[in-house]
Amino acid sequence: MKAVILISGNGSNLQSIIDNADRIDLQICCVISNNKNAFGLKRAVSSKIQTSIIDPELFNSKEAFDRELISIINQHGVALIILAGYMRVLTPLFVSHFFGKILNIHPSLLPRFPGLNTHQKAIDASEKTHGVTVHFVTKELDAGPIIIQETVSIESSDTVKTLSDKVLKREHVIYSKVIHWYTQRRLKLVNDLTATLDGKII
Ligand code: GRF
Repeated sequence: MKAVILISGNGSNLQSIIDNADRIDLQICCVISNNKNAFGLKRAVSSKIQTSIIDPELFNSKEAFDRELISIINQHGVALIILAGYMRVLTPLFVSHFFGKILNIHPSLLPRFPGLNTHQKAIDASEKTHGVTVHFVTKELDAGPIIIQETVSIESSDTVKTLSDKVLKREHVIYSKVIHWYTQRRLKLVNDLTATLDGKII
């Protein structure tokens, strides 16, 4: 299945998806970044994957930016859009255009800690557990139907760095697993609140 991957930064999730691509029947047509300095772009180039950079400063609205993003994605004729550390909120225009085709990975046990700085928030809230969520993207930020979550424990010695390393390790395993379900057409978004795996509501 053809896909594009959207990134803004380091791209460790991108790397794990690249490494698993053959096994999970994924053809990565393009890696797109809103940040020209994203290290993930170098990872894509090393793997001979086409890259596109869209500079937000060249657009006078979020919609105009997303229209350009839609047009680039449409050139590739892909069935799946994978957000992997993409740090821009998508407009309703974008989300409705690609309804049911966008996956995101978020470093918390949603609905706990949507948004940024999730590891710090989990430590500050004295949580005993933390984790990662893969979900379909719908119009509401970090609120689309949850597909899978994985939990890690928070020890008293944990810092943002140790916790984020622990969570990232889990991210690198579960994202490819979910993408494989999608490429096998086992995973569907039914509406803003419901997703199914093998026809059963998740
Ligand atoms: C990950 O924690 C991911 O869950 C979040 O942003 C981070 C990206 O890390 N959306 P990387 O760029 O994949 O290393």
